Amino acid sequence: MYTTPTNPIIIDAQNDIIRTYLEPELDGLLEAHNKARIDWFPSDLLPSSEQMSAAEIEQVAEIKQQSAKLPDAARIALVLNLITEEGLPSYHRLLHQAFGDKSTWNIWRNQWTAEEDRHGNILRDYMRDCRIVDMKHVEKLQFQFLSDGWMPEWAGDPYATIAYTSFQERATQVSHRNLGKYVQKLTPSLSRILGHIAGDESRHYNFYTSLLKKLLQVDVEKCLQAIYTTLKTFKMPGHDIPGFSDMSITEHAVDIFGPKEFSEVINDVFTFIDFDKLKNLSAHCEELREKILAYPPRLLRFHNKLINKVKEKVGDFNFEAIYQRKIVLA
Ligand SMILES: [Fe+2]
Ligand SMILES: [Fe+2]
Repeated sequence: MYTTPTNPIIIDAQNDIIRTYLEPELDGLLEAHNKARIDWFPSDLLPSSEQMSAAEIEQVAEIKQQSAKLPDAARIALVLNLITEEGLPSYHRLLHQAFGDKSTWNIWRNQWTAEEDRHGNILRDYMRDCRIVDMKHVEKLQFQFLSDGWMPEWAGDPYATIAYTSFQERATQVSHRNLGKYVQKLTPSLSRILGHIAGDESRHYNFYTSLLKKLLQVDVEKCLQAIYTTLKTFKMPGHDIPGFSDMSITEHAVDIFGPKEFSEVINDVFTFIDFDKLKNLSAHCEELREKILAYPPRLLRFHNKLINKVKEKVGDFNFEAIYQRKIVLA
C-alpha cells in the first residue's frame, strides 16, 4: 500500500523543487486560466429569483418538463456526480495540506474552490427544482461523506497531489461530458448545464497538468514515482459512501464513466505531459515508466472483460435515491 512520505526530509525536498521550479509558473498559469475562464452562475442556467421575466418562467417550465423524461440511470449518475462535487471542503483542505497558504497557491486554491462550488450548487438546484430523486436520501449521503472527511493516502504529499488532481480533473470532465451526451436528446437543458461544468473541469485540468508536465522535466524520478503511486492507489472521492459501488457500476454500464474512460483519461494526461518523449532514463525510472504505461491497456482489458456482466448486473440494484426502483437499460 502507498504511504504518504511523511518523512519531513522528503516533503522538504519536494517543496524546494516546487518553490524553485513550479511557483514561478503559477502566475502565468493563473493568468492564462483567467483569460480562458467563463464566468457563469447557477441562476443563469436555472433562474429562481423572486421576480422572473416571462422568458425565465418559460425557461424553467421547459427545464422541468424535459427532466421528467430522464432515465433512471441518468438520475443515479447525477447523484454520484453531485456527491463527488460536494466533497469540496475536503478537497480545499487537501490543497492546503499540500501547498500551504503562501504565494499564488493561496489565490489559486480559493478561486478554484469558488469555481468548483458552482458545480455542486447547480446540480443540486437542478435535482431539487426538478424533483427527480429522493433529495433527503441524497442529503444524507452528502452529510456522511462530508462528516467522514476525505483523507486519501497521499494527503500532504505535494507531488502526488499534483498527479492526482491532473487525473481527477480530467476524469470529472469526461464524466460530466458523457452524462451530458447520454441525456442530450431528452434533456438538452441538462446537457447545457453539464457542458458548463465540464468546461470548468477542462480548464482546471490544464492548470494542474501543466504543473505535472513541468515537474516531470525537473524531477523525473520522483515525479514518475508520484504518478505510479497515484495510479496504483487511485480511488474516486466518495468511494466509501453507501451505494457508491452500485452507482459506479451504473455509470460504467451506460458508458458515462468506467475503466475504459479512465484509460482514456490516463492517455490524455500522458499526451499532455509528453510522456512518450522521456529520454535517457535511469534503470529505476525506466522500470517506473513501464509500470505506468501498463495501466491504460490493463484498464481497457478490464472493461472488455466486464462490460457485458456489468450491463446484466445493473438491473439487480435497488436504489434508494430513486425510491428503490431498478435500472432498466434501453
Ligand atoms: Fe467540479
Ligand atoms: Fe475542477
